[in-house]
Amino acid sequence: MPSKTPTRAIEQVGVIGAGTMGGGIAMNFVNAGLPVVLLETKQEALDKGLAAIRRNYEAQVKKGKLTQEQAEARIASIRPTLAYEDLAQADLIVEAVFEDLGVKEQVFRRLDEVAKDGAILASNTSTLDLDAIAAFTQRPGDVIGMHFFSPAHVMKLLEVVRGKHTAKETLATVMQVARKIKKTAVVSGVCDGFIGNRMIEQYIRQALFMLEEGALPAQIDRAIEQFGFAMGPFRMSDLAGNDIGWVIRKRRYEEQPELTYSRVADRLCETGRFGQKTGAGWYDYQPGRRDAQPSVLVDDVIVAFSKEQGIARRAISDEEIVERLVLSLIDEGAKILEEGIASKASDIDMVYLTGYGFPLWRGGPMLYADTIGLYNVERAMRKYGWTPAARIVELAATDGRFNP
Ligand SMILES: NC(=O)c1ccc[n+]([C@@H]2O[C@H](COP(=O)([O-])OP(=O)(O)OC[C@H]3O[C@@H](n4cnc5c(N)ncnc54)[C@H](O)[C@@H]3O)[C@@H](O)[C@H]2O)c1
Repeated sequence: MPSKTPTRAIEQVGVIGAGTMGGGIAMNFVNAGLPVVLLETKQEALDKGLAAIRRNYEAQVKKGKLTQEQAEARIASIRPTLAYEDLAQADLIVEAVFEDLGVKEQVFRRLDEVAKDGAILASNTSTLDLDAIAAFTQRPGDVIGMHFFSPAHVMKLLEVVRGKHTAKETLATVMQVARKIKKTAVVSGVCDGFIGNRMIEQYIRQALFMLEEGALPAQIDRAIEQFGFAMGPFRMSDLAGNDIGWVIRKRRYEEQPELTYSRVADRLCETGRFGQKTGAGWYDYQPGRRDAQPSVLVDDVIVAFSKEQGIARRAISDEEIVERLVLSLIDEGAKILEEGIASKASDIDMVYLTGYGFPLWRGGPMLYADTIGLYNVERAMRKYGWTPAARIVELAATDGRFNP
């Protein structure tokens, strides 16, 4: 994108959906001085969303981050509505409704009718095809993805998803707005999971294989946390909700039956252990507390699963755990570069440093690969019987780096 690409003025914002994400997204804009019209389908949902926003601001007042007057002013600059006509003046509209293509279709068709000419229409979808969403409108050049991370008013990362028809002006404007709301924005092409979640799926997949081969959740988490991650894969899954991964895996079993996947996590989900929100997941949680306690019951489920699969459990070293988890990120990252989903390795690193708790001093997965050398990366992958991504083999052979 040429650096002199013109941008559009963004003075008023619309947010659709006042759930987990919509409320936090709205807060970002009002915090930056941009008034927001917040739309829901039902008064009850609107009230619930506004109450959550108010609670978040009150917590900030309690911590001394805002005065009561500032908090009130910000809440007052969110205008709740049930009518699409109230979005007619918005320069940017961010949709955060249910993750269902049919619902997105209804919303984008309606937006196409009411939004003014030149308004940017953004979707916060995590998994749906942005190009399909853009095709619900007569103005696909104005459609873009703004993939916020939860909690949206806290997390720094914003994946900006560039669709097939997204206009350069739309992209440049959203990158500028991202700076205004103090996000670290990274451009991603359209693919399942974009950059961050596409890579984390492979990382979780390795973690699950290691469970059935002989490790336990607490060992895996401890090993990768010692490497420097903010949180291991199992504590992270318990925080995000194990049901989310379950939905994705069920889709994978249908769409990519050739993809091997340990079913050990499904066993856990079948018992309703969805994580912190159900008081139990890969770990046990005391009511009202977030510290993860290893669970004897879960360990038994894992050991029984290995037995059922005819897998002889073995001791897995912390070194192997770290290697397999980090290599799985590097390998998928390399594919993301090959496919042009990310335009440079440092973009991938930014995603991992700002959104996924990768140890800052290691510089992100791709820079870490450069640090240990691609020759060693390839050799380690082959040791585990993996076929490295073509980009890795090529760089290893030429003594190259992801970050030239
Ligand atoms: N929860 C996350 O961690 C997360 C992270 C990134 C992206 N996302 C994406 O954000 C979107 C919203 O997710 P969420 O977790 O906030 O869901 P949520 O269920 O908490 O909120 C969705 C809200 O949208 C409202 N809604 C539904 N249909 C609507 C319509 N037609 N018009 C207006 N409002 C409507 C619902 O009443 C609800 O309040 C999804 O696309 C999801 O994939 C979620």
